[in-house]
Formats: sequence, C-alpha cells, structure tokens
Amino acid sequence: MRSITKEFPGVKALDGVTLDLFAGEFHALVGENGAGKSTLMKTLAGVYPYGTYGGDIVVESAVKQFKTVRDAENAGIAIIFQELSLVKELTVAENIFLGREPSKFGVINWTELYNRAGKLLKDLNLPIYPKTPVGNLGIGSQQLVEIAKALSQDARILVLDEPTAALTEAEVETLFGILRDLKARGVGMIYISHKLGEVFEMSDRITVLRDGRTVGTNDAKDLTVERVIALMVGREVGDVFPTSQHEFGETALEIKNLTAFEAETNKKLVDDVSFSVRRGEVLGISGLMGAGRSELLMAIFGAHLGKLSGEVFVEGRKVNINSPSEAIASGIGFVTEDRKRFGLILDQTILDNMTLAGLKRISGAVLTHRARESVAARKSMQNLRVKASSPLTVAGTLSGGNQQKVVLGKWLLTQPKVLFLDEPTRGIDVGAKQEIYANINALAKQGLAIVMVSSELPEVIGLSDRILVLHEGKLTGEFTRAQVTPEKVMAAATGHH
Ligand SMILES: Nc1ncnc2c1ncn2[C@@H]1O[C@H](COP(=O)(O)OP(=O)(O)OP(=O)(O)O)[C@@H](O)[C@H]1O
Ligand SMILES: [Mg+2]
Repeated sequence: MRSITKEFPGVKALDGVTLDLFAGEFHALVGENGAGKSTLMKTLAGVYPYGTYGGDIVVESAVKQFKTVRDAENAGIAIIFQELSLVKELTVAENIFLGREPSKFGVINWTELYNRAGKLLKDLNLPIYPKTPVGNLGIGSQQLVEIAKALSQDARILVLDEPTAALTEAEVETLFGILRDLKARGVGMIYISHKLGEVFEMSDRITVLRDGRTVGTNDAKDLTVERVIALMVGREVGDVFPTSQHEFGETALEIKNLTAFEAETNKKLVDDVSFSVRRGEVLGISGLMGAGRSELLMAIFGAHLGKLSGEVFVEGRKVNINSPSEAIASGIGFVTEDRKRFGLILDQTILDNMTLAGLKRISGAVLTHRARESVAARKSMQNLRVKASSPLTVAGTLSGGNQQKVVLGKWLLTQPKVLFLDEPTRGIDVGAKQEIYANINALAKQGLAIVMVSSELPEVIGLSDRILVLHEGKLTGEFTRAQVTPEKVMAAATGHH
C-alpha cells in the first residue's frame, strides 16, 4: 500500500500511509482507537472502492483498482472485519459460503454446502455445527465462524482485524495454530490487535499507526511492549491499573440461588449462584467462555430468554425483574459485550445513543431538554475522551474503541446503583483502557456498585476488590484482592479448586 490517504467528511482518517507485506509474513498493525487501522484495511479489501482514496494498492507488482470486496477477494485478499458481519438468520454453513455457494446450473447444492462447511470446521478443529443459525451462537463462536469463512477463500493475503477480542485463551491458541500453518504455506497476514502480548508472540514485523500516519515499521525482535505503547500514544504510559482503595457501603445488590436454563435445551447455564455486592465495591467475575458469566448478568437484568429461578434484591428490597426496562427502573445499568446488538444504534448520533437509556432522568418529567441532554452528553464525551468532532457525530462512524466509550457513557447517564460491565474494554487501546479503568475506580468511589465480567485476567485482577469464578454455571471460587493470583483463578475456572 503506497501513500494511502482517505478522508471522511471532517476527518482525515489516513494521511499517506505506506505498508508492505511479504508472502508468509505475519505483520501486526497497531495503534490507538481511531488511528486508522480498520480504515486502512477496508481500503485494501475493496470496502472503499478505487477512486475514493488516494495512493496505490499494489499486489504482486500490479496496481489494483478494486471496485468491490469481491474484486479484492478475487485478487486473493480476505478480511475478517472488526465488527462481525455475519447474517444472524442464516446457518453457519450458509454464512461461510455466502455468495459463493456451491451450485450446479444455478441451483445451490445444499448437501455439498453442508459437507464442505463441516469439513472446514473439522479441519479447523472448531466444535461448531454447520446447520446452527449463527444468531444462536455466542459472540466467540461467531468470531470463529468469521475466521472459517475467510479461510474458506484460500486467500494469499489475510487481514484479521481484532480477531481474538471475543476468544478464550484456548480458542486463541487454536487460531494461532491455524495462522502458523497458513504462514508456512506462504500466506501473508496483517493482524490488528490491542493485545500486545499476542502481537509479540506472532509477529515478524510491527507497524504502528498514529492519527492516520505511520509512526514506523520495525522487526518485532527490535521492539518491546513498552516501546510500542510509547509509539502508539506518543508518550510513556505508566502503570495501567490504578491501585485504588475503595470504601464499601451498604449491600447494593444481592442475588439468592439464581438458576437459569437455556431456552431450547433446558440445560442449566447458571446453577444456583448466590452473591452480593456492596456500594463502592468492584466485583469481578471470571471464568472461561461458556461458564455462564454473561448469562448470569443477563438473567439478573431481565434479558434471559429461558426459564429462571432465584431472588434479586436491590438495596435490600426484593425486586421482580422481567425485562431490561424493569432492571433499569430498579437501578441496574448494563454495558453489554455485544455492543452492536444491545448497546449502540449505529446510524444514530452519539447524543441520541447516550441519551437513549438516560432519557428519562436527564430530560426531567415535563420537557425533553435537548440542551440539557446535549450538555450531559458533551460532558460524558469529555470525561471518557470520546474521539469525535461533536455529539452529533453518527455512532457508526466512530472507531471501535470510541463506540465502546459511548456505550459506557450512555449507561453512566442513567445514574444506576449497580452497573454491570461485560467485557468493558474489549477492543480498546491501552491509553483509553487506562482512562476507562480510572473511570471505573472513580465510579466505585462515588458509591456505585460495579459487577464486571472480563476475559482478561490482568484486568479482573487489577481492578476488582473481590473476584468470583464460575465454572459450568457454578460458583467455584471467591477471592479478595489480597488473596487472588492468576493461578488460583485459572484453577477455579477449570473446575480444580
Ligand atoms: N465511515 C466513516 N465515516 C466517517 N468517519 C469514519 C468512518 N470510518 C472511520 N472514520 C473515522 O476515521 C478514523 C479512523 O478510524 P478507524 O476505524 O480506522 O480506527 P481504528 O484504528 O481501527 O480504531 P479502533 O482501534 O478503535 O478500531 C476515526 O477518527 C473514525 O472516527
Ligand atoms: Mg478498528
């Protein structure tokens, strides 16, 4: 890619970026939220057609002028997008071969379609059934289907934009095994991630972007994590986890004997879980994917579809929550892991998104005070350092990390008593993470009770006053900040306690 420039109305997303990739190379592309990583890769993949960007895309010494994603695919370029792009209503196999279905005389050969998908999933060692509708899969499995889909195209150049954000460590290892194979077969890979450990584990070279410009491309062996962070943010970043002393108040939320069944199979997703969290306390919930962490929060929040039993008390008062709006009315806020489905309306402005849940509280009883809302949203954007020109920016045009900040901001404006955070920093760069951690601490200091699910162990350990561990729906461990070690959490998470 030679001197690529790309402008959106009011934003120069890319300003003369040059990037090269060798066959069989693993090349990481890193940078803060909004640096231009996804935009650069969408340019490569034909999402932004020839003529809408400046500079040249050169594949094997030929300048390419892609008009569509299909053109780029035909040139051997496959991309796994940061935002999942699967069709929820279609099955796994249909999604994998969407637009490329095996057919004869224009008629889709379904047997072939399912056989090929089945074989692909098996080769990749993915325990996913080809006939399952994608909408029924968790976000981690959906990510794996995206990966299978890209791999089914036999690409020579594979772009992965934050592929591991929703994967467990075991799934990440599976993926890396697959990527090492591809590398050996000469496939060049461009890998975007905020997880610098992974970046260093896999990369030959690392390119750092900042504000739409290349800061540099270096061999990974000549760099350190600290150096890359400094290049990304343009300053040295100190300790990411602010150690903070919280003072606990009254019990804010208490859960007694919560059991939640899967809607179709009646399997127990959450099995007789009881816990409580006090005002000012950060309670971390750890466990492997599928352990029931998100289901636990969803069940309390009235968003669980299957059968339920158990009791919920908010500030000592028993509440009956049958829907998310009842949960919000009871004082519970929820930053969900799947921001596209539950968190954010992509084609609306930041202002509208932020005030959706907080509308009632901010706008007062009588009038909708647009001005007051706007002030609150602006303040929240500043506090969270959302990178956007104004509250009227359309949410879907923000970078992934900035979208996540908008979701957080939206819930904070509802002034909840208890705030659930499910993977709150997924896809968020180190600098912004630090800001969000500081925000979480500040909220706890103000007396908010926080329950946080995170797959990033350092994050749970660094931030929580107390940690609960789930394994197969059951509570298998509880540790205070003083007691906890990564080993203890992993042991409980795998059922060895
Ligand atoms: N479709 C669009 N319309 C307007 N602005 C956009 C659009 N897509 C991206 N931008 C802007 O371009 C800049 C670069 O965004 P991009 O998504 O490439 O960042 P990123 O490096 O991938 O960040 P993240 O780590 O958060 O995913 C941001 O300022 C973003 O708001
Ligand atoms: Mg991005």
